[in-house]
Amino acid sequence: MDSFIDNVNFFEGNNPEKIALEYGTPLYVYNEKILRNRMYNVTQVITKYPYTANYSVKANTNIHILKLALEEGLNCDAMSIGEIQLLFKAGFSAERIFFVPNNVAPFELIFAIKHKIMTSLDSLSQLELFGECCNKLKLAYEKRTCAVRINPGVGAGHCEKVITGGKNTKFGIAEQDVPQIFEIANKYHLTIAGINQHIGSLFMQPEPYLEAVTNILRIAMLFKNLKFIDFGGGYGIPYHKLANEKDFPMEDFKKKLEPLLDEFVSKYGSVPLFKSEPGRYCVAEGGIILGRVHTIKQNADIKYAGTDIGMNVLVRPSMYDSWHDIEIIRNGKIVDRDNLMEQTVVGNICESGDILAKMRQLPQIQQDDLVCVLDAGAYGWSMSSTYNSRPRAAEILITKNGKIKVIRRRETIKDLMKLF
Ligand SMILES: Cc1ncc(COP(=O)(O)O)c(C=O)c1O
Repeated sequence: MDSFIDNVNFFEGNNPEKIALEYGTPLYVYNEKILRNRMYNVTQVITKYPYTANYSVKANTNIHILKLALEEGLNCDAMSIGEIQLLFKAGFSAERIFFVPNNVAPFELIFAIKHKIMTSLDSLSQLELFGECCNKLKLAYEKRTCAVRINPGVGAGHCEKVITGGKNTKFGIAEQDVPQIFEIANKYHLTIAGINQHIGSLFMQPEPYLEAVTNILRIAMLFKNLKFIDFGGGYGIPYHKLANEKDFPMEDFKKKLEPLLDEFVSKYGSVPLFKSEPGRYCVAEGGIILGRVHTIKQNADIKYAGTDIGMNVLVRPSMYDSWHDIEIIRNGKIVDRDNLMEQTVVGNICESGDILAKMRQLPQIQQDDLVCVLDAGAYGWSMSSTYNSRPRAAEILITKNGKIKVIRRRETIKDLMKLF
C-alpha cells in the first residue's frame, strides 16, 4: 500500500499542514468513520446467540470516543474506578459496564458493589476479599453476584509483556483451583454469574483464541447457571499495513467460533450471554499522531530525524519495541515512497531509548516535515505521560462530515503545576 492516509482519506479533505498549524503538534487525530466501522464490526462477532462486545476502554478512554462506542451499541470493560467514572460521564449505565480489575483494594470493590457494577475477581484471594466487602456492606445474599476470571492455560500476543493467559502471567484463576472458587462462594453466599478470560493482546491468527474458547467452555461446564461467558479481546490489527499486511481474518474466525458455541449450548442446558473484550481492534486504526520534524542530523552512520513525538507521546515503540508505520507529509501532501533511505526517527525526550522507528526505510525526511504515525488510536494517548515535564498532547476528531472537533485540549504547564 502506498499511503494508508490517502487510501482511506483519513483527513476527510482537510489539509494536515493546516491542522498541525492550527492545533499544534504533537497531535492525536481520529477519524470518526473508521472508529465507528471497527466498533460496529466487533458487535457482529457472534450473531447466532445472545452476545455483547465490551469495548476494553483502557485502549482509549477519551470521553468522545466512549460516546461513539455507546452509539454503536457496545458495552464496556473497565479496569479502575477512573475508567468507570469516565464511562458514567460518557453516558454508560452500570449494567453496561463490566469491571475486570486486577489486585484491587477493598475500597475499589466497594465502589463497584455500591454502583451495582458486575465485577470479575481475578484470584482466589480477591474473591475472598469481595466476599468480605459484601459482609461489611451487609449486602443481601441475593445481591451477591460476581464473575471470576479464568486462566484458560493458553496465551498469545505481540510480545511477552502483553500475554495474559498460560503459565507465566499474574492473571486469572487456574482450572485446578476452580473447586476453591465454589468453597469461597459458599462461604460468602456469592453467586458466580459469569466467567471471563483474556489471553493477551494483538494476535493475527484466530487459533490461540479458539483454543482458549474451547478451554473456557470446557471449564464453564463445571459452573451451574452461568449468565455470561466472556472470551476476552486481543484481535490484532495490521501494524505493517504499508507492507500490505493482511487484516485479522474476522470472517474466518467467526466461522470457526460458531461450531464451538453450538456444541457448548447443546450440552449446557441454557444459553448464556457471550461476550468479548476488544480494545485495540476498535480504535487503533482510527487514530494517528501528527508530529513535527525539528532536527535532521547524522551521528556516525545513522541518519536521525528528531521530532516532537517522544516516548511521552507514544510509549509503545520504546516499551514493547512495537512497530508503527510512518508516513511523511510535506506542504500538506503525503511524500511518495518511490525513493526510500534508512533513517531513525526519534523524539525529544532525554533517553537513548526514545526511538519511534529504528533504521526505517522512509522517504528522505526534511526539517519542518510532518511525521504521521499510523495506528496510534489504541494504547497511544491512554499510555502517554508527562515525562520530562512535557504536557500531554491534544486530541481532535475528524467527524464523518469532515468537521474538526477538539476532543481533548492540549495540557499546559499550568495544569502540571496545579498538583503542587
Ligand atoms: C482483561 C482485558 N480485556 C481486554 C483487553 C483488550 O485487549 P486488546 O486491546 O488487545 O483487544 C485487555 C488488554 O490488555 C485486557 O487486559
